[in-house]
Amino acid sequence: MCGIMGYVGSRSAPRVLLDGLKRLEYRGYDSSGIALVLDRKLEIRKSEGRLENVEKLVQDDPKKLQKSTCGIGHTRWATHGKPTTQNAHPHQTGHVVLVHNGIIENYSEIKNDLMTRGHLPKSETDSELFGFLVLEAMEEGRDLVHAVRESFVKIRGQCSIVVMSEKEPGLVVGVRNGSPLVVALDPEGGTLFASDSQPLLPFTQDVIFLEHGDVAVATAQGLKILDLDTGNPVQREATHLEWSLEQIDKSGFPHYMLKEIHEQPGALIDTLNGLVDRNGPEPFTLAAQPGVDILKDAKELVLLACGTSWHAALLGKYWLESWAKIPVSVDLASEFRYRNPVIRPGTVVIGISQSGETADTLAVLRELRVKKIPCLGISNVRRSSISRDADAVFYTSAGPEIGVAATKTFVSQLLTLLLFAGYLARERKTRSTSELNRLFEDVVKLPHVIAEGLEPDSEMVRRIDATVNALTPKSTPMSGVRGFFFMGRGHSFPIALEGALKLKEIAYDHAEGYAAGELKHGPIAMLDSEMVVVVLAPKDSWREKTGSNLEEVKARGAKVIGVGDADDHQLSRLCDYWIPLPRESQKIDPDLLPFVLSPVVQLLSYRRAVLKGTDVDKPRNLAKSVTVE
Ligand code: AGP
Repeated sequence: MCGIMGYVGSRSAPRVLLDGLKRLEYRGYDSSGIALVLDRKLEIRKSEGRLENVEKLVQDDPKKLQKSTCGIGHTRWATHGKPTTQNAHPHQTGHVVLVHNGIIENYSEIKNDLMTRGHLPKSETDSELFGFLVLEAMEEGRDLVHAVRESFVKIRGQCSIVVMSEKEPGLVVGVRNGSPLVVALDPEGGTLFASDSQPLLPFTQDVIFLEHGDVAVATAQGLKILDLDTGNPVQREATHLEWSLEQIDKSGFPHYMLKEIHEQPGALIDTLNGLVDRNGPEPFTLAAQPGVDILKDAKELVLLACGTSWHAALLGKYWLESWAKIPVSVDLASEFRYRNPVIRPGTVVIGISQSGETADTLAVLRELRVKKIPCLGISNVRRSSISRDADAVFYTSAGPEIGVAATKTFVSQLLTLLLFAGYLARERKTRSTSELNRLFEDVVKLPHVIAEGLEPDSEMVRRIDATVNALTPKSTPMSGVRGFFFMGRGHSFPIALEGALKLKEIAYDHAEGYAAGELKHGPIAMLDSEMVVVVLAPKDSWREKTGSNLEEVKARGAKVIGVGDADDHQLSRLCDYWIPLPRESQKIDPDLLPFVLSPVVQLLSYRRAVLKGTDVDKPRNLAKSVTVE
C-alpha cells in the first residue's frame, strides 16, 4: 500500500520525487522520505506525518539538494512498526539505501540470521532488512544489480523494492514481485519509477508496467529490464495511457472526493460505452471480449470483494438473481479464502476490485485459478494485478479515482454488474426482450438523473447541506449525536452499508448499516434522541415495509433523516430531516434507484466530514489500495 518513486536523469530529483509522492499519497501517508545522490554521497530526508514535512526539510536544507538528479522516495502506510521517522523510508544500511512496498513474510527468520551475523537494524520495519542483504552481497564482491537479484530471492512475500548505492551513484535498480511498479522513459532523458502510472503522467503517457520478476536497471542514459532469476534482458512493451493529466487534478473542486462524486454521470456513460455494444441488435449486448463467453456459460456466480466493492457485489446479487435467475453468492474475499467453501461445477467467480490491487481479492483469485475454477475480474485500473490473476477482466471507465473513499468507481461497478444481469437475463431468456429494452432505456437515462440530483442548487443538495449543518454545529460539531444508523430494504440495504462505511471512513463517526427489518432484532436497543437514523426508502416494492420500520425508529426518539421520492409526503412528514431524490428518478425502473441513492449517502458523509474538518481525501489510517492481507 505504500507509494514508491524513483528518478535518474537530468531534472532536479527532489522536485520530481516530491511531486510524484504527492500523487501517491493516497497509497499511504503516515510518514515519507526521499534519498538523493549528491556529489556521490547519499542524502536522506524523512519524517513522520505528511509529505509537507519532508518538503520543508528539503527546502530549508543548506546543502542545495535541488542539484541532485538521482533519487528514490516513499510514502508509507505502516505495517511493521509505528509511523515514526525512524521507521519511515528510505532505509539506509551502509552505502545502500532502499524503499519498499509490500511485506517481507520471512522477516523474523531474516532478522535473526542478520543479528547472528552481527547486524543491528535501526528500525522496526521488515523493509530495512533487505538493505543488509544487499550490503552483504556487495561486500562479497557483487555489483548492485547482482546483489539486489541475489537478495530478492532470499525474501518471501509480494513486494516491490527500489535500491541505490553510494558505490554506484547514478544507478537505480527496481524489482517488482507482486506489488505494482511502473517505469517510464523521461522524454528529456532518464528514467522514472512509480508505484502506479499517475505520477508519470506529467512526463509521459507511455509507461511500462513491470511484470512479476522483472528487474529494472536505470541510469541517466537509459533503461534495461532483466529477468530476476536468470539476469537475461526481457522486452516489455510500453502502454499508452488513456488517463490525462487534467483528470488527475482537482479541476476547481475543494476535494478530489467532491470532484469524483460529480464525475459519476460521466463515469457511468464511459463505463456503459466501454462495456456495451450499442450497435448490437439486442439490449444488453456486451461488447466482445474474452470474459463474455466465460460469463455466458456460468451456472452459478460467486462474487468476491472487500469494502465498498463488496457492497457493489451485494447489490449485484439482487439484480443477477431477480433478472437472470442465476444463483449468486457474495463473500468477503478475506473470509472466503480461509473457510474451505464448496464450489459447484459450472461456477464462475468474479473478483471485484476498483484498484485491481487488493491483496485479499487477488489471493483468492490466484488460488481458485490453480484449481481450474473460471475467474473473472471487474476493475477500474487497466494492467493492474487483477489482470494476471483472473482469466479475463471487465474494466469500468470511471477514470482515476484519487480520493481514498470510493465513489465513482462504486457506481461504475454497480453498472457493470447490472449489465451482466441484463446480458444473462437475455441469454437465459428469463426476461422478455421488451422488458429488457425498457430497462436498458432507463439505464441510459441514469447519468442524467444523477446529474440532475447533483446540480448545486437542486433540492436534494440543498436539503443534504441543511441536514448536515443542523446536525453539525460549527462550534461544537460533535454535540448531540452519538452515532448514525443507515437502514434500507432490498436494493437500499447495500447502500445503507455503503453510507455507513463512507461516514466512518471520512467523518470518523460511529455508523452502522442495517437491513431495516433487522433493527428490531437487537440494534434498536441503541436508539435514543442522540442517535441519527438515515432511512433509505425510495418508491420501490420495499417502501411500505421500510415506512413501518421508520415508525419504530421514531417511537424510540431517534432523529430521522428520510431519503425518498420527492412526492412521498406521507414519509417526509414523519422525518426530522427530509432529502428528496431528483424528480427524474420517478421515471426510471425502481431497480435502478440505488444509483440515485448513492450520491446522497456520499454527499451526506462528505459534508459532515468537511464540517468536522477531517482530511476528506486522505482520511486517517486508510490507504486507497490495500495491498496487504
Ligand atoms: C472504499 O471507500 C474504501 N476505501 C475501501 O473499502 C475499498 O473499497 C476496499 O479497500 C476495496 O478496494 P478495491 O475495490 O480497490 O479492491
